[in-house]
Amino acid sequence: MSGQQNQSWIPEDVPLDKPNPARMYDYFLGGMHNFEVDRQAAEQVLQILPEVRLIAQANRAFLIDAVKYLANQGIDQFLDIGSGIPTRGNVHEVVQEINPESRVVYVDIDPIAVAHSRALLEGNPRATCIRADARDVEMIVNHPEVETLIDFSRPVGLLLVAVLHFIPDDEEAHGIVRQFRHRLASGSYMAISHATMEGWPPDVLERILAIYKRSTAPAKARTKDEIVRFFEGWELVEPGLVGLDEWPLSKQFKLEFSAAYVGIARKP
Ligand SMILES: C[S@@+](CC[C@H](N)C(=O)[O-])C[C@H]1O[C@@H](n2cnc3c(N)ncnc32)[C@H](O)[C@@H]1O
Repeated sequence: MSGQQNQSWIPEDVPLDKPNPARMYDYFLGGMHNFEVDRQAAEQVLQILPEVRLIAQANRAFLIDAVKYLANQGIDQFLDIGSGIPTRGNVHEVVQEINPESRVVYVDIDPIAVAHSRALLEGNPRATCIRADARDVEMIVNHPEVETLIDFSRPVGLLLVAVLHFIPDDEEAHGIVRQFRHRLASGSYMAISHATMEGWPPDVLERILAIYKRSTAPAKARTKDEIVRFFEGWELVEPGLVGLDEWPLSKQFKLEFSAAYVGIARKP
């Protein structure tokens, strides 16, 4: 998207004067679904830390690896919260290749991410995208399109990939995950990636978070201890909760520090 003019299809409640994390992430990944304001903010981040592009790619590698693992464990229904703008290797493409019957519901707060996802999914009866705030777990699980595709009496693959750090309030972030943990059937899996402040070069994260503070979704990094608590009562699968730089498939990006913690766990 080259400018902000003639975007009459964009809902009125989308603030186009503020950078948006979904579209900044799209820019980091080399996507085209971003505006000038997003590109400017993303360029400021890249000036502070050019490695952010690699961090975004390593995060996508974790996501794809996680959903392949889940699909190979027999998971055939996925709820992807904070799913973002479609890019190469989307969840439904990856899991429907393993099992064409797999169902996927994408959820994002950004209407532009939702509009692009819905356009891509037209004609796919087993995948959809709804607009919702992750904080509204009840609304998500009771949404008619979710109820059509996801059977909560069977195991679900819940994806919370690079989204919980956009819920800065600790109580709120843990409350969201607690509600999902409670709602999902035994045998369900949850994959999380979450930004951490551990291991960054001095000041770099603070300067980047200051840019996100001006965006539509300010972010917060958390410690490994805080992030591991999201999995409370669930069994982490190998290699456990590890730095993004240590996740086997993300190692290829040779990150200089972990940037985020990533892990997958199963509900006993
Ligand atoms: C960094 S992107 C991650 C996209 C994808 N999960 C991935 O890891 O490749 C973060 C996404 O979370 C979405 N997001 C931020 N806050 C959210 C909220 N409160 N509820 C739902 N989605 C949210 C953003 O719109 C954005 O699309």
